[in-house]
Order: sequence, then structure tokens, then C-alpha cells
Amino acid sequence: MKGTVSLRGDKSIAHRAVMLASVAEGTTRLRNFPPHEDAAATLHAFRSLGVTITRRKDTVIIKGRGLSRLHAPRGPLFVNESGTTLRLLLGILAGQPFKVSLHAAASLSRRPMLRVIQPLRAMGVNLSGRRCGKEECAPITIEGGPVRALRYRMPVASAQVKSAVLFAGLYARGTTRVIEPAATRDHTERMLGLFGAGISRQGRTIDLRGPCRLTSPGTITIPGDISSAAFLIVAAILLPGSRIQIKTVSLNPSRIGILAVLARMGARAAITVRQKGGAEPWGDITVQAGALHGVTIQKKEIPSLIDELPALMVAACCASGISTLKGVEELRVKETDRIRSMTENLAKMGGRLAVVRRKRSEDIVIRGAGGLRGAAVSSFGDHRTAMAMIVAGMAASGRTSIDDIGCISKSFPDFLKVLKPLMVK
Ligand code: S3P
Repeated sequence: MKGTVSLRGDKSIAHRAVMLASVAEGTTRLRNFPPHEDAAATLHAFRSLGVTITRRKDTVIIKGRGLSRLHAPRGPLFVNESGTTLRLLLGILAGQPFKVSLHAAASLSRRPMLRVIQPLRAMGVNLSGRRCGKEECAPITIEGGPVRALRYRMPVASAQVKSAVLFAGLYARGTTRVIEPAATRDHTERMLGLFGAGISRQGRTIDLRGPCRLTSPGTITIPGDISSAAFLIVAAILLPGSRIQIKTVSLNPSRIGILAVLARMGARAAITVRQKGGAEPWGDITVQAGALHGVTIQKKEIPSLIDELPALMVAACCASGISTLKGVEELRVKETDRIRSMTENLAKMGGRLAVVRRKRSEDIVIRGAGGLRGAAVSSFGDHRTAMAMIVAGMAASGRTSIDDIGCISKSFPDFLKVLKPLMVK
């Protein structure tokens, strides 16, 4: 692979920017807005809630309605497969004076929602999901109203849960405090600060003083998505002779665990930070091919690379020596069970992977075989499994076929279009 690319805006930042711009005062322009299905789900939800949103090329323009002035939609809101839309939206709807049902597509309707429902209930919000065993899942009905400030020690390290609680805290009188078990992506805190909210952090404790009035910062340029970049980075490292540059990509420290891990594996990558201050840091990454060796990823690092684990599992199979990925159990509740999808697929390609299950946590141990061989594998309907397997197929000897890669449009519809011009014959 050879060449330079820049990628469309980060998915996590895009969701938060639409949500806060919608409940802020003033007009916000979001540049480099991503074209994928998840971002479209958030735009659709806020349009249905009465927000005027227009689009000019890759810029989205949002006329904010103010904190509690969204409109009741005509019927149920459909969030498609976007878990971030669903969970974060619940925090915003907590403070709106109406009742609404949130519906999701098949795979998201099976994912656990109690993790957000419970703290929101503790804040006095009236909401309930469909019962599924011990869990509650979509569809979820929520009736907004007065919200109580909460001190919440999160049982799982989840940026989505943290964000939902902080968003609900915008409507509460007093300080809402969230304590994280491990640091998770901090886009919500940064974005809230940018819109003028009273938010502060000390270690793993975040305080938000409510109620808040949010004011638009004007224009926000969303840096490229590091989670999309991850697939290109791993591919370039694995394909001999490669050297690629990815420009204007998000370098938020809470998201770049993959770069630290690849460096420990011996990868040659140069990172140039072009913006340090401001809302979100970003810069350029240059990476070249090279041999990798095994690595240990600690549990506390997992949130900083949770979505990059499928790509890292491919890298570990192609490395020499043993890699141990500790405390990866959250992968079970992503778009598919990614422990299963990735271990089954990579085993078919000659990867040697074992899952070590403990009471509350799971590790993956990979014996690097220095390479993979082509096989027929499956995306399991999951965008990141699909892209990781494309990378595995590129690095493998022989032919690989992956069924059903349409799911990639969830986060990176242009993946193949971006990838092809980088390929050298
Ligand atoms: C996200 C947080 C992570 C991540 C997801 C996006 C976010 O989920 O896996 O793709 O934008 O907050 P969890 O909060 O469930 O860990």
C-alpha cells in the first residue's frame, strides 16, 4: 500500500455534535460530517424531534432549539442499528416534556440497555425497555420530565453510559457526578465544554453542574475517524513494502490505544500532532510495513481501543510470539459477539486463538503464527468484523471470501473506495 488519505469525520464525535447542537442556542455547522448509516440515524432522530437540519456536501447545519424545546415526534423513533444514537438520545429525552418510543433494527434490539436505563431511572426518569431475560432491550419507551442530579459509580467502563447520564444531568439542578472504573473516550466532556456547560474532571470523576444552557460554538470541524483508520494502519503494517499517511485524523488520547499497542508490537509509525488544544486534538499518522511481535494488552487499556480489537486480533495472528488481550468481555455485546466472530473466522484462516473465561472477565490468547491463509469467512453482519476480515484476507496467502460485507456502511461506506487507490499492484 502506498499513498495519502484523509478520512471522514469520527463517528463518536459526530453523534455528540449533532445532539448538543440540537439542544443548544444558535446555529452550528459541522464540517467533514461522516456519510454513514449510524450518523444518518442520529440526524433522522433529531429531525423527527423538530430540529431543522440541512446538509451541503459534507457540512451539516443545525439550528439549535434550546435545551428542553424539542418536539414530540409523530410516532416511534427508529434508530436503525446505531447503539450510540439510542443510548445517548435517552439522556437528552430525559429532559423533554413528552413521551416517545425508540425502536431499533434486529441486532441492536438484542443489545443490553439496562446499563443506561438503570442510572436514568435513579435520576427520576420514567423509562422502560422490552424485557429480555434479566435485561431490558429496545424498543424503549421514555417519558421525560424533571430530572434529579445523580452520583453514579459506573459498573462498566462505557462511554455511552457516561454520556447518557451526563446528558440527563444537563436538565438536573445540582451536580451530576460520574465515576468511571477505567477512563473511556471523553468526547462528551470535551463537546459539553465547547458548548459552554459547567463540566470538570478529576482523575476518573466527572462533574457536571446543571441545569445548563448550551450555546453553539459556531463551526466544528470533525477530525477523521481513528477507528476507521485502524483498518488501513494494520493493513499497511502487514503488507510488505507499504507506507501510507493518514491525514487530519483524530488523535484524542482516550482513543489511540491502538497506536500505543502497535508501537509495543514493534510497528513503525510516526504521529504528528497538528492540533493539541481546542475541542479535539488531531494530526497525521504515517505508518510502514514491518514485522510485529506479541504483546499484552491490559484491561484498563481496553476502552481506549475497544473498537480496534478486531483489527488488533488480525495483527496478533500475523505477529511472532504470544499476545494476551485481557478483559475483553465487552466485545460480547457489540454489533455481534466479536469474541466469537473473530476467533471463529481467524481460526478458519489458521490463527491459533484461545478464549480464557473467568467469572467476570474474559481474555483472548493468540499464538502468533507469523501469517494467515485464505478461507471462506463471515462478517456476522458486523461492520468491524467485516473490515478486519478484509484486512486479514489482504495479509493472508491465497484467496479469502467474506460473506455479506454490506454492513460496512454502518461506519465506513467508502472503505473499499478508500482502500483500492492505496493498493499497489
Ligand atoms: C462509543 C463507545 C463504545 C464504542 C462504540 C462507540 C461511543 O461503546 O464501542 O462504538 O461513541 O460512546 P461502549 O460505551 O458501550 O463501550
